[in-house]
Amino acid sequence: MPVITNIEDLRQIYQRRVPRMFYDYTQSGSWTEQTFRDNTSDFDKIRLRQRVAVNMENRNLSSTMIGQPVTMPVALAPVGLTGMQHADGEIKAARAAEKFGVPFTLTTMSICSIEDVAEHTSKPFWFQLYVMRDTDFVSRMIQRAKDAGCSALVLTLDLQILGQRHKDLKNGLSAPPKLTPSSIADMMTKWNWGMGMLGTKRRFFGNIVGHAKGVEDASSLSAWTAEQFDPALDWDKVARIKEEWGGKLILKGILDADDARMAAKVGADAIVVSNHGGRQLDGAISSIRALPGIVDAVGDQVEIHLDSGIRSGQDVLKALAMGAKGTFIGRSYIYGLGAMGEAGVTRALEIIRTELDTTMALCGRRDVRELDRDILLVPRDFAGDWQA
Ligand SMILES: Cc1cc2nc3c(=O)[nH]c(=O)nc-3n(C[C@H](O)[C@H](O)[C@H](O)COP(=O)(O)O)c2cc1C
Repeated sequence: MPVITNIEDLRQIYQRRVPRMFYDYTQSGSWTEQTFRDNTSDFDKIRLRQRVAVNMENRNLSSTMIGQPVTMPVALAPVGLTGMQHADGEIKAARAAEKFGVPFTLTTMSICSIEDVAEHTSKPFWFQLYVMRDTDFVSRMIQRAKDAGCSALVLTLDLQILGQRHKDLKNGLSAPPKLTPSSIADMMTKWNWGMGMLGTKRRFFGNIVGHAKGVEDASSLSAWTAEQFDPALDWDKVARIKEEWGGKLILKGILDADDARMAAKVGADAIVVSNHGGRQLDGAISSIRALPGIVDAVGDQVEIHLDSGIRSGQDVLKALAMGAKGTFIGRSYIYGLGAMGEAGVTRALEIIRTELDTTMALCGRRDVRELDRDILLVPRDFAGDWQA
């Protein structure tokens, strides 16, 4: 077993162990992948202020997200097809998160269903909703999330039509994977993955097949999304969903200060500054670049979280110091899951925790809840001098 010291190590093992189709699904952004690249390279542009001779004993990483205690402010983001990265992937990731003390978010597009994840975990998780044209289906989904005891609804607003990822079309991405000569040849080299998949019955979209009317075959994500997702989603519908849900609501996919104001007005408990990991609007700015403007606009009205591009504890620290109260990771934990199942998700979280803790200490700080811009060196033009 190689010595795993960082998230990139997990990505390399993941790439060796999981079929190409699912690796590419994770490791892609839309079209030219400009936004996907900017998400990570913009984090790299921010530097940290090294401080010395400051007492660094008794450090604290615990905080809250939407009022719920977390052992560090890093939630697992909703990721479609997680159960194709590793057998029973959503259950494994949810269990790792639960044991670690951070929130797990189950996507609408999961392989394991809401009920299945609830049955195999003991603490409430968060449920991410995509709004479909079929309003009955959406209402049933909200009810199912309530029945399963989910403690927050994460409503994703930036995917009413699907951004194109070239590799998914070329690979014929589907769940379960279609058997073609090249997919079979690839899967033959991924023994552990294949054995896991043979040993589970969870190989279809668990929240959808058997629940959405007239949906016999939801295997093709792109075809199903194009048919079912509601392109008419607007702020009135968001307000109606908030009312129907009645619990904590997180609005995900906010990248613009005007939209952040709308989200605050609608009464969201939190927003996630996100460009969907660079998978939707290619050419949009990175989340970390968008954050300062959004903090200025609504920081005193709504809790702000951030995702897209976090690959280390340093990145988490930068997001928190720039004004986010919490963060989400997507790919960073999927690499761990594909590499080593539940233990890999735990490893990803441990790596991020250690990096966050050590970096915070070397910046002369002891409490993750009290970070501010003072620990950062941000390029003068970082927010961008764009002309609208
Ligand atoms: C493979 C993959 C699938 C995703 N599926 C969903 C999804 O079903 N629902 C959703 O709201 N976001 C989805 N996202 C976006 C993530 O929730 C999150 O915004 C993104 O991964 C953050 O960027 P990062 O991967 O750089 O951390 C997905 C991301 C990836 C990489």
